[in-house]
Amino acid sequence: MPTVTEDELFERAVEARQRAYARYSHFRVGAVIEDESGVIHVGCNVENAAYPVGICAEAGAISAMRVAGGTRIRRIAVVGGLADGPETVCAPCGACRQRIAEFSDATTRILLRDGAGNVQRFDLSSLLPAAFGPVNVLPLSSAPE
Ligand code: THU
Repeated sequence: MPTVTEDELFERAVEARQRAYARYSHFRVGAVIEDESGVIHVGCNVENAAYPVGICAEAGAISAMRVAGGTRIRRIAVVGGLADGPETVCAPCGACRQRIAEFSDATTRILLRDGAGNVQRFDLSSLLPAAFGPVNVLPLSSAPE
C-alpha cells in the first residue's frame, strides 16, 4: 500500500528541485521515487560545464533508491520548470524513460504536475511503448536483483 499521498510525493519533489544544480539550462528538476517498500528516494538534476555530462533528476533518484536498498519503482513523481519560476509539466526524457523501465512493471506509475497543480498519471508502456528491456537480454527465469 502507498505510504504517502500524491501531494506528499510532489512536495518532496519540489524540495528536491530546490537542490537542482541547473547553472547552464536554468531548468530545475526534482524527482521522487516510492519504492516497492514504500520508501522514498529523491534526486535533482546536476549539470556540468561539459554539458553532456550532466545528470537528470530521475537518474539521481534511481541511484539513491539503489544505494538505499530499494529495487523497484512503485511511483515516480517529477516536477520541473525554468529557474525559480512555476513548475511546467516535465515529462521524463527518453533516456530516463529507459532508466525507469529497468526498475518498473505494469503497475508502476509516472506522475507529472503542471503549474496549476493538475496531475497527469502514466504507466510506462504509454511513455515507452514496445520498450527494449531486461527481457531482451536476460534468461526469462532470471529475477530482478
Ligand atoms: N532534465 C531532467 O532532469 N529530467 C528530465 O526528464 C528532463 C530534463 C534536466 C536535464 C537538464 O539538466 C535540464 O533538465 C534541461 O534539459
